[in-house]
Amino acid sequence: MGKTGLQLSALSFGSWVTFGNQVDDNLGDRLMGIAYDNGINFFDNAEAYEGGRSEEVMGRVLKSKSWDRTSYVLSSKVFFGLHGKHNKPNQQGLSRKHITEGCHQSLQRLQADYLDLFFCHRPDPETPMEEIVWTMNILLQQGKILYWGTSEWSGAEIMEAHAVAKEYKLVGPAMEQPQYNLFERRKMERDFVPIFRNTGLGTTIWSPLASGLLSGKYNNGIPEGSRLSIDKYGWLRDRVMAGDKINRVRELGKIASELDASLAALSIAWCLHNPHVTTAILGATKEQQLAENMKALDVLPKLTPGIMERIDNIMGTKPEE
Ligand SMILES: NC(=O)c1ccc[n+]([C@@H]2O[C@H](COP(=O)([O-])OP(=O)(O)OC[C@H]3O[C@@H](n4cnc5c(N)ncnc54)[C@H](OP(=O)(O)O)[C@@H]3O)[C@@H](O)[C@H]2O)c1
Repeated sequence: MGKTGLQLSALSFGSWVTFGNQVDDNLGDRLMGIAYDNGINFFDNAEAYEGGRSEEVMGRVLKSKSWDRTSYVLSSKVFFGLHGKHNKPNQQGLSRKHITEGCHQSLQRLQADYLDLFFCHRPDPETPMEEIVWTMNILLQQGKILYWGTSEWSGAEIMEAHAVAKEYKLVGPAMEQPQYNLFERRKMERDFVPIFRNTGLGTTIWSPLASGLLSGKYNNGIPEGSRLSIDKYGWLRDRVMAGDKINRVRELGKIASELDASLAALSIAWCLHNPHVTTAILGATKEQQLAENMKALDVLPKLTPGIMERIDNIMGTKPEE
């Protein structure tokens, strides 16, 4: 992962929207079992997912699995708190108080002694960078977390954290968790490039299928029970379905057919083609989805320069030089 010694599997498994909502303990057990048995070694979570229930489900599954704790990597993230707009002032953000309390509470819900990766889920302009970097380093020294990082921070914010860490001889952020998929490319392909080159940065990229859109499942409407059919995620539906994205997904389907691949496997393989992607975090509500998505590794060698150029032309999302 970036400049660290940690090894993450190319594909990993996360729980946003799904665990504690569409996915109960039984299904969570089966999905994590499939992932682990196929070599996935990183499970991603956050305090905010379903108000903490996502971590509780994952914690119970991990406890019942009795996998050797040294054989997998577990993460959580702090920032959004548990109660959404009902958070009290110190129940969110990146103050020393909320980072510390958030970490302790995530450990309890996950029934874990430590988190391998701990992310600042968003930047917090209200908290001085010194306070964030020091707090993360204290948690490192206490052994409660092993690596700290960021999610959806700008390149400038990540570099500010590194500058503070250098000034005090502390450990800077080792990884970032940005959205990356065929529609969202700028941060990974432009903004972060100097950081990859000069500082080193692991990336655990999210929504490789743009919440399922890039599987082609929404090409003919919104299937019942799918993510974009869930009432409380209406804001996500509006965002994901905006513009003419569906037409481009339909076109992309032709390339997938030529390669004898599913659209989902092609779209995930496309993410892995970028050498700066440490791991692509998959999401799934069905065992078949996970099985299909893991075939991305078979599609990766088929992504020749010619195919990549045709994909760029269809999508029209390649960031300008
Ligand atoms: N750091 C952040 O801010 C942030 C934000 C978002 C996500 N994440 C992390 O990234 C992980 C992955 O994100 P994501 O869940 O948005 O990933 P995604 O791959 O873009 O979407 C996954 C969803 O798409 C549908 N799907 C997946 N495979 C499919 C297939 N083969 N055919 C048809 N439908 C399929 C399923 O939803 P339905 O079956 O319900 O339709 C599944 O839950 C999350 O679990 C979380 O750990 C982080």
